[in-house]
Amino acid sequence: MILITGSTGFVGRSLMQTLQEEGRPAKTYTGRMNDPLGLRAELLDVDTVVHLASSEARGRDRLLQHVDVEGTERLLEESRRMEVRRLIFLSRLNADPHSLYPLLQAKGEVERLIRHSGLTYTILRSATLFGRDDRFLNLIAGLAAWSWPFVWLPGGGRVAMQPLWVEDLVRCLLATLDRPDLLDETVEVAGEERFRYGDVVRQILAVTGLRRIRFSPSVKLVRPVAALLFGWRRRPPVTHYFLDRFTVPEVAPTDAVRRQFGFVPTRMGQQMAYLRRPPLRRLFQPG
Ligand SMILES: NC(=O)c1ccc[n+]([C@@H]2O[C@H](COP(=O)([O-])OP(=O)(O)OC[C@H]3O[C@@H](n4cnc5c(N)ncnc54)[C@H](OP(=O)(O)O)[C@@H]3O)[C@@H](O)[C@H]2O)c1
Repeated sequence: MILITGSTGFVGRSLMQTLQEEGRPAKTYTGRMNDPLGLRAELLDVDTVVHLASSEARGRDRLLQHVDVEGTERLLEESRRMEVRRLIFLSRLNADPHSLYPLLQAKGEVERLIRHSGLTYTILRSATLFGRDDRFLNLIAGLAAWSWPFVWLPGGGRVAMQPLWVEDLVRCLLATLDRPDLLDETVEVAGEERFRYGDVVRQILAVTGLRRIRFSPSVKLVRPVAALLFGWRRRPPVTHYFLDRFTVPEVAPTDAVRRQFGFVPTRMGQQMAYLRRPPLRRLFQPG
């Protein structure tokens, strides 16, 4: 039996759908990460945990510490107690406990906890994901729609990235379940196309039919503006974690998925039709 944390999130929903289609037994953890008794009850008879729960979308460092770091500590403690065989954790490229960026630092800290937990694990470090309910392409398209006549390219839009389609990531997660050679390994996954942020924006404008003037403010200038416009929301569409991505390139070997999982990831241009939805729905995604 597999237990999925964070099953209601962007990745979790896609993973649950595929697990159901493939008829694999899996259950969801719907309690809070810091509830040891709730975790213990749900971990009964569980063989593998796929850990996706995260407060990243809330954009608050305090929550990141509470949910991601301390919540994972609880999960690891209870998994050991309930003799779970393996934990699969979805991390991010550039995760590093010494990073200056809070999200990458928290992900690095969680990875460190997992490696020292005594449990068998696999860590998948993923690039930013795109797909129907993403908070990436939808967000950029939504912002472009609403910031007429401009489209914002923080830092000149030069930062490099290799977005991965969420369904390809799910394919990697599912394959990992059946891969004993990935026990106690950390694996990087990313798309095969390496873009500059400006190239991604150009593709989005082409798909949505928007015509915009490029505006390239410094990331430093964008931060207070984003905090003022969105910081008060419970789930701000633009978080400071999102803005950090304009200063840290998010790259991996371009053949990472092909080499580790034996398939060619979907090209971004093949899976962008969902961006043709009304702009408001794109900016304020439920996921
Ligand atoms: N999306 C990406 O581009 C990407 C790329 C690389 C890595 N990742 C990582 O992959 C994981 C999943 O990402 P995602 O995009 O699916 O995130 P998401 O859409 O924000 O989903 C987060 C999930 O965590 C749950 N959660 C939040 N706080 C919780 C708490 N206190 N206790 C229990 N559950 C809690 C949420 O449930 P509620 O809504 O009920 O709170 C939701 O199911 C995250 O660790 C993320 O950092 C994501």
